[in-house]
Formats: sequence, structure tokens, C-alpha cells
Amino acid sequence: MQQQAKYEFSYNIFLIGFMGSGKSTISEYLHQHYAMEKIEMDSLIEKREGMRIFEIFQVHGEPYFRDLETKLLTELQQKNNVVVSCGGGTPMREENVIQMKKNGKVVLLLASPQTIYERVKDSHDRPLLEGHKDVAYISELMKQRQEKYEAAADFTIHTDGKESAQICEELVQKLLEEEERQCAQ
Ligand code: S3P
Repeated sequence: MQQQAKYEFSYNIFLIGFMGSGKSTISEYLHQHYAMEKIEMDSLIEKREGMRIFEIFQVHGEPYFRDLETKLLTELQQKNNVVVSCGGGTPMREENVIQMKKNGKVVLLLASPQTIYERVKDSHDRPLLEGHKDVAYISELMKQRQEKYEAAADFTIHTDGKESAQICEELVQKLLEEEERQCAQ
């Protein structure tokens, strides 16, 4: 695998966005091509609990899962230069956004409801979409969440029609520009 560049950010990068907005794909790309450590919140929670996300929802309920997200974000403050792929609902809890901002930049990935639908339609990993996999439902839930996503985000990246390489270049560029702005102050 060719390494293109290596950046050392003194903070973590939290990727937020609706289910299927590309958080995992982009964190994997940054891991492979920019040599960044990555943490996939859902996968780490599944590993620790020894259960898939839908089982955690079934057995313990959604509030239990949300508490695990908060606990994990608190732990992540000990780290830096890690790209964290959040769950789609992570920024819905204000406490989570506070934890992310303590040692991180929050990047919102946006995709259209149609794009999201195409990406999630064949998967059964997302309990909140089971039985509602259609563009209208996705669009409605996205609208309900939009305000909190936008309030949490330091940057937003529109991903429709873009390759991972372009999205990551935009993302890194925005972070570097922000660092320059801060140094100039
Ligand atoms: C959720 C999104 C999922 C997962 C859980 C709840 C949500 O993560 O955390 O099913 O509330 O939007 P992805 O966004 O990675 O699918």
C-alpha cells in the first residue's frame, strides 16, 4: 500500500454523519493513505460487548448503547492523531459533542438520502433502519438530526459524487488551513 503523506495532528478527528454517509470508508482511507490510527466506535463497542450492535439494542436497549458511546468518547481524550468513525447517532447527545470537542475536530460528512439508501439497503446492521429502508424515511430522520449534526461540526464535507481520495484531501486541507489560522492569531 502506497503511503501518500503523514500528518501529525495534535488532536483527534471525529467523523460524524448519518448512517451510510461514508464515515467508515473515509476513516479507513485516512488510515491506509495518511498513516493515521483509526477507531471505529461501533466495531470497538461490538468487540467489547461481544455482541453485534443490533443485539445490544435488542438485549440492553438503545440508552445502554448510547451510554457506551459516551464512555468511549471520554476514553478517547487520552489519545491524539486518531481518526474516529462515530456512530450516526453519536452527536445527538450533547454530552458526546462536549467530549469530542475537548480534544478533537468534528467533521460532518453529508450525502443525499438517495445515496444513503443505496449504501444501506442491503445491510441489516442498523436497527434504526430495519423495516424503514426507504428514501422518505431516511430523508425525514436526516432532517430531524440535521440541526444537531451542524451544531456539532467544525467542518462539513459534501461527499456525493466524490472519490474517497478527494474527500480526504479536502478534509486534511481544511484542518491544515484551520491550524494556520490559529497560528496566525
Ligand atoms: C446509529 C448508527 C449506527 C450505529 C447504530 C445507531 C444511529 O452507526 O451506531 O445502529 O443512531 O444513527 P453507523 O452510522 O456507522 O451506521
